[in-house]
Amino acid sequence: MKFAEMSKNELQSMQQQFQKEYEGYKALGLKLNMSRGKPAPEQLDLSMGIFDILGKNDYTAADGTDVRNYGVLDGLEEAKKLFAPIFDMDADNVIIGGSASLNLMFDTVARCMQNGALPGVTPWGKLDKVKFICLVPGYDRHFTICETFGIEMVSVPLLSDGPDMNMVEKLVAEDDAIKGMWCVPMYSNPTGITYSDSAVKRLAAMKTAADDFRIFWDNAYGVHHLDKNNRDYLANIYQECVAAGNSDRVYLFASTAKVTFAGGGISAMASSPANIAYTKKLMNAQTICFDKINQLRHVRFFDNTEGLYAHMEKHAAILKPKFEAVLKTLDEHLTQLDCAHWEKPKGGYFISVDTMDGCAKRVVALCKEAGVVLTGAGATFPYGKDPRDRNIRIAPSYPPVDELVTAMKLFCLCIKIASVEKLLA
Ligand SMILES: Cc1ncc(COP(=O)(O)O)c(C=O)c1O
Repeated sequence: MKFAEMSKNELQSMQQQFQKEYEGYKALGLKLNMSRGKPAPEQLDLSMGIFDILGKNDYTAADGTDVRNYGVLDGLEEAKKLFAPIFDMDADNVIIGGSASLNLMFDTVARCMQNGALPGVTPWGKLDKVKFICLVPGYDRHFTICETFGIEMVSVPLLSDGPDMNMVEKLVAEDDAIKGMWCVPMYSNPTGITYSDSAVKRLAAMKTAADDFRIFWDNAYGVHHLDKNNRDYLANIYQECVAAGNSDRVYLFASTAKVTFAGGGISAMASSPANIAYTKKLMNAQTICFDKINQLRHVRFFDNTEGLYAHMEKHAAILKPKFEAVLKTLDEHLTQLDCAHWEKPKGGYFISVDTMDGCAKRVVALCKEAGVVLTGAGATFPYGKDPRDRNIRIAPSYPPVDELVTAMKLFCLCIKIASVEKLLA
């Protein structure tokens, strides 16, 4: 029976029962953390071979570059070739960065602010106001980049097949202060959805009041399928941009942070020849080169992109049972009561749950009091403020399955408690 169909008496008796159960959980003295999407230790173990993959005499790239020395600002050719199929782009349009794609994203925004999107274009930092479209719920660190540069964030709902495109199209057509937009197009953080082909086409073709409007296409989870035979597919935004005559509109980003080591992988970006040329010119002032030794290690470890995809299947074998455990628990405990909504991602690192309006903070607090730490309520929204106080991001990757199930049962109980409180208030 749905909560909404229950009488006051029924809700009150449920409330007492839930409270008893909750006290039982508190007595267990749990100490569990589902707050950040970190790979589990078993996943990190999959890449240990990378440490000694380079023999003592293996320090020469295919073109003869000695990777121990300075040079090759934009990365080894073979590292670019590793990422090119992931981006579905030509290797010439790829730059290999350091260990974090977030760093590439931050620097790309910084360059647009300081120098402009292309030579001769007004730097965004010289304008009175710069705004970005931020899809919600979304990735908190994108929002932090905007806050750092004083970029005003305009929230647009992320639907189950991508951005609310009617709203996006209207906003960008009418407001030339909107210069950018963050997208996590595949297995989005946090809802796990993938953009439909139609959403990708519309993003590429839409009319924007700002000529230098840019999409920051953070494809962090582009190879992170839970099952290669039941996966999502993402259209090629760059090709769509070229076809629509907007070839400079998109910067694409990815990394091996959740392929090999988080904080110890390699990152990459891709874009149009004009954007890449300008990026390299400005990057030249920033560094002489990134870590080519790590680039070569990654190339040797995977051989090629097919090798990387095969490696991802090993991650999937560890992650899939965790996602299944979370979804099963949510379904068993909440579906009938109709007090929460969630997507069923086919990849990525997150499951996001929408509670009834006004319940998320209470749920996170109740979980914390009983020993389970979740991502703070509101973190998935600009300025940390979820206007409906309903979204909670679950990160199932790190805890072992048995701990995850315990934590999720408590989570569901806390949702029930908060929902009943709300309905009785
Ligand atoms: C959407 C998204 N982008 C980027 C990152 C960070 O990637 P990197 O470690 O390459 O900076 C994360 C990590 O959680 C993420 O979820």
